[in-house]
Amino acid sequence: MTVDLAMGGTVRRRVRARASGKVNLQLSVGPRREDGYHPLATVFQAVDLYETVTAEVRGDGVISLSVAAAPGFDGDVDSVPLDRTNLAWRAAEAVRSEFGITDGIDLSILKGVPVAGGMAGGSADAAAALVACAEAWDCGATRDDLMRLGAALGADVPFALAGHTAVGMGRGDELSPAMSHGQFEWVFAIQREGLSTPSVFARFDEQVARGKHHVAHPQVDAEVMAALMAGDAARLGNALSNDLQDAALSLAPRLHGVMEAMEEADALGIVVSGSGPTIAALAASKPHALAIAAHVHAAGAADVVLTASGPAMGTVVLEG
Ligand code: C5P
Repeated sequence: MTVDLAMGGTVRRRVRARASGKVNLQLSVGPRREDGYHPLATVFQAVDLYETVTAEVRGDGVISLSVAAAPGFDGDVDSVPLDRTNLAWRAAEAVRSEFGITDGIDLSILKGVPVAGGMAGGSADAAAALVACAEAWDCGATRDDLMRLGAALGADVPFALAGHTAVGMGRGDELSPAMSHGQFEWVFAIQREGLSTPSVFARFDEQVARGKHHVAHPQVDAEVMAALMAGDAARLGNALSNDLQDAALSLAPRLHGVMEAMEEADALGIVVSGSGPTIAALAASKPHALAIAAHVHAAGAADVVLTASGPAMGTVVLEG
């Protein structure tokens, strides 16, 4: 742990942790439950777009939060809340109350995952904040403690802690690791205007009520698992699926143009990422990913186009 001797000899502990964004290779959604959540069968893959959270202990019990774009990240950060509605702030509060901590913390977030994009950037902030705060306050939290606190903060937070490739059942927070070989190359087309996850699920519910979707008990797709195990990008591309796709497309019709551009560039598979509006395309290689990205950019259908590789690691401590 890094210990800085600040003015007056006060010890200030500073820890920096990093968590990845994700794409859902499969997102099967069951009927809305009484608690408002939907049962899921999903396969997550972490990708190397990162949120970095630095936590610095302060003795006065106050929590503060600042947010900036990571170097090279061209997405919007202005819409990120800087109060306790931010998941990173709530992660700090959760660790504090669980372990009876009285110190405060200065949190600074560097964002590299699109905001409200369906790539779990907020959940990555929560995961990195949980790890950074637990380390900075030296509260003796175990991995199980952080997983439990993470699940209470949001359905995607446990995966942001775990990373790599995993199956998520229940609300998406009941994880088991998935076998995966090799590296997969992705293109992400990002819109400046995000979609709210609850509103996409609500549109899905409306579509179900109108008989547009037949919802059954969601199950993991064996074809996705086989393609991952074989490290076969073409096979995985064919198997990508997302039950929230129609709902996201109906809320953001501009996305049709993104998908067309990706098809023109021979993407192996195209899918809405999570609840959107980010669209993910699977490429055959890094040069192919760059070619798809250039084509989507030239078509003018997306505000920002990024390439990334998966699987990436879960939450790691970089400094401290
Ligand atoms: O858990 P989290 O706060 O990330 O979820 C955001 C919203 O997404 C929930 O309030 C709910 O509307 C929707 N959701 C859902 N079913 C899930 C996960 C999320 O309906 N399994």
